[in-house]
Amino acid sequence: MTIRFDGRVAIVTGAGNGLGRSHALGLAARGAKVVVNDLGGARDGNGGSLLAAEAVAKEIRDLGGEAIANGANVAVYEEVEAMFAQAKAAWGRVDILIANAGILRDASFSKMPLSDFWTVMDVHVKGTVNCLKAVWETMREQKYGRIILTSSASGIYGNFGQSNYGAAKAAMVGLMNVLHQEGQKVDIRVNVLAPTAATRMTEGLIPPNVQPLLAPETVTPGVLFLASEQAPSKVILGAGCGVFARSYIYETEGVYLPEEERTPEGVAAHFEAISDPSVQHVLEGATQQTMRFVTKASAAH
Ligand code: NAI
Repeated sequence: MTIRFDGRVAIVTGAGNGLGRSHALGLAARGAKVVVNDLGGARDGNGGSLLAAEAVAKEIRDLGGEAIANGANVAVYEEVEAMFAQAKAAWGRVDILIANAGILRDASFSKMPLSDFWTVMDVHVKGTVNCLKAVWETMREQKYGRIILTSSASGIYGNFGQSNYGAAKAAMVGLMNVLHQEGQKVDIRVNVLAPTAATRMTEGLIPPNVQPLLAPETVTPGVLFLASEQAPSKVILGAGCGVFARSYIYETEGVYLPEEERTPEGVAAHFEAISDPSVQHVLEGATQQTMRFVTKASAAH
């Protein structure tokens, strides 16, 4: 079945460049009306101008689509609320949120000024939460919403020099896990994207010979699937170079230690068995862990 977005309204943050631009163009090409948001600042978040968002909105309109440019700084709630009001005033609803805006301020933790840690957290965590808060009630009332939060392999697996960015990107997974549960009854589906692409953000980090493989357009089909009516929910989707893969968080079967062995030394002695990945439990929610441990301990008595 062809995936279309006719009649759907999407907000894509940070859509003036790179991945966001590609997602916005992809949504519009399949019929969505798109708010192209971008602060228009530098890679580290400094500065700002509406030009970047306007250029992409114009590109969409020139191709026959519908788009509005918006220059809100996602880290400022009042500006996000105004962006959301702009979308509602123009098109009456918001069906899709792609929280994509992001910046980098890399440095090893010992060299990182505390202010750079919190600035990155502000854009990614506060910025994403602001957008979620602005759209959430409307999506609940509509009984429909598709939300894509942009994480990163840095947050899921780690990357030297990115303690701020990694912490912020891991927060996307926590947000997804909870909002998936809270949105389930009203058909709000929440997923996480872990992209890799050659953009302004990765300039100087990716060797020129592989850059063509890493075009943002190779990621966007995954995002469009996650934004579609048939989207799954609570999925971490890795995407880049046309490769799509899914990450899971699982718990090992685990080991019950009877009281006489329930010591730090006992944990050390059984650590290999505790870590054994041959059984992998992917849990539906937090209470399932408690229930599993209670069952396991009860069975051992
Ligand atoms: P990019 O730098 O090309 O685009 C990010 C856009 O976000 C820029 O246009 C920027 O002006 C905008 N932005 C920054 N702060 C903003 C704010 N406060 N409010 C509104 N807009 C703001 O970077 P790229 O690569 O396209 O990144 C998009 C997202 O994907 C980011 O969240 C990034 O962390 C994430 N990501 C990118 C990867 C890559 O390999 N390019 C890898 C993993 C994650």
